[in-house]
Amino acid sequence: NGSVNDAKNLRVKLVLLGDSGVGKSCIVLRFVRGQFDPTSKVTVGASFLSQTVALQDSTTVKFEIWDTAGQERYAALAPLYYRGAAVAVVVYDITSPESFTKAQYWVKELQKHGSPDIVMALVGNKADLHEKREVPVQDGIDYAEKNGMFFIETSAKTADNINQLFEEIAKRLP
Ligand code: GTP
Ligand code: MG
Repeated sequence: NGSVNDAKNLRVKLVLLGDSGVGKSCIVLRFVRGQFDPTSKVTVGASFLSQTVALQDSTTVKFEIWDTAGQERYAALAPLYYRGAAVAVVVYDITSPESFTKAQYWVKELQKHGSPDIVMALVGNKADLHEKREVPVQDGIDYAEKNGMFFIETSAKTADNINQLFEEIAKRLP
């Protein structure tokens, strides 16, 4: 009805998890700055960025994004970042079956130790490398559906589905 009372401003803690090299930092850089860095450096510990999304119904969602380090030596730090997170984005690389296995590990960890009402997304990144694909899209769809997750394939390189990822998450917030 156009009333200003319809406006809602949400602040949401979001954590990205997944194997080293799957493109977590590139996804965040694309979403927040509209850029792609082919020489992206491995993340040390974690990095923090925020970005606001406006939805059709005049809701705004400010994502407070914790981009974690995927290297094994940082695995023990992950609970510091996913604890209290409203949203977890678990990323794999469609050219790497190992990274898909690692994504499933993170989903199980979140199911055991994350917030009970956490919104989870499964993201198959590097969709531009379709000639090197080793994880069929249906495997991602099936795993996500079994675990009550939202699923999407993205490319941080071409920007394909990056904004859609965050908009779909925003729509699914309780
Ligand atoms: P950690 O910080 O170690 O956990 O890795 P990460 O998941 O943050 O990976 P990062 O974003 O640094 O990307 C790793 C490499 O993949 C870089 O060389 C990127 O340029 C490349 N990359 C990231 N996203 C894409 C993509 O969508 N397509 C292609 N072709 N390359 C990508
Ligand atoms: Mg990184």
